[in-house]
Amino acid sequence: MSERAHLRLEDVHAGYGEAEVLYGIDLTVPRGQIAAVVGANGAGKSTLLSAIAGLVRPNAGRIILDGKEIGGARANSLPARGLALVPEGGRLFPFMTVRENLELGAYIPMARARTVERLEEITEIFPILRDRHNQLAGRLSGGERQMCAIARALMSRPALLMLDEPSVGLSPIMTERVLETVARLVRDDGLTVVIVEQRVTEVLTIADEAHILDHGRIVRSGPAAVMQNDPQIQETYMGL
Ligand SMILES: Nc1ncnc2c1ncn2[C@@H]1O[C@H](COP(=O)(O)OP(=O)(O)OP(=O)(O)O)[C@@H](O)[C@H]1O
Ligand SMILES: [Mg+2]
Repeated sequence: MSERAHLRLEDVHAGYGEAEVLYGIDLTVPRGQIAAVVGANGAGKSTLLSAIAGLVRPNAGRIILDGKEIGGARANSLPARGLALVPEGGRLFPFMTVRENLELGAYIPMARARTVERLEEITEIFPILRDRHNQLAGRLSGGERQMCAIARALMSRPALLMLDEPSVGLSPIMTERVLETVARLVRDDGLTVVIVEQRVTEVLTIADEAHILDHGRIVRSGPAAVMQNDPQIQETYMGL
């Protein structure tokens, strides 16, 4: 497989206890690209991200990041390997300030040494957070909260960013802004992104490849531009 494969899953099976949720996932994401994963509720999208993040241990198969197998690695060892997950809803600490939330994102020693510098950079990328550093995260608007959650994930300077439905609770305009920020991070910093989204039309405008997850299996993959124009996908996932 090409050395441009940043993330590769080979026949990954995973689930919760006896219940298997993912049935043999094969997925390759080249460096510097955005992979969109779409599918119905309960298809296993969040479980897929959890497996990559080490929050769910695969029962079988391999997960390879940058040529190193990470399947079954503990979640707390992953930031040091350059991986960050923004879970659904962002999961900020509501009673801590924006700044404290961001500082928590830099908890690996390498990143911590440069926290102040990174805070400056992050504020450049997310100007919406500029005047909010001392505000409680629980008082942010939905869009600000999602931006803050992404910003927190970026504090550790990950090479691979995973986003679980960043548009939940956001207006169409705010969704567009969040997705555009993600696209810019990829363009400017060469970040690799795996993004799970229900807003299929919107996410396909920034994705390179799209993968359809159905009952724990990837049933179709292809260039986002091709998927966007596919009548079956339009009907099933884009409400057209
Ligand atoms: N912690 C858990 N323990 C047991 N079962 C779980 C757990 N989390 C998810 N599941 C089950 O795994 C299946 C896939 O769930 P998952 O959250 O991965 O789907 P999803 O595609 O992210 O759905 P949604 O679009 O609703 O977020 C579902 O049947 C769900 O009930
Ligand atoms: Mg989910």
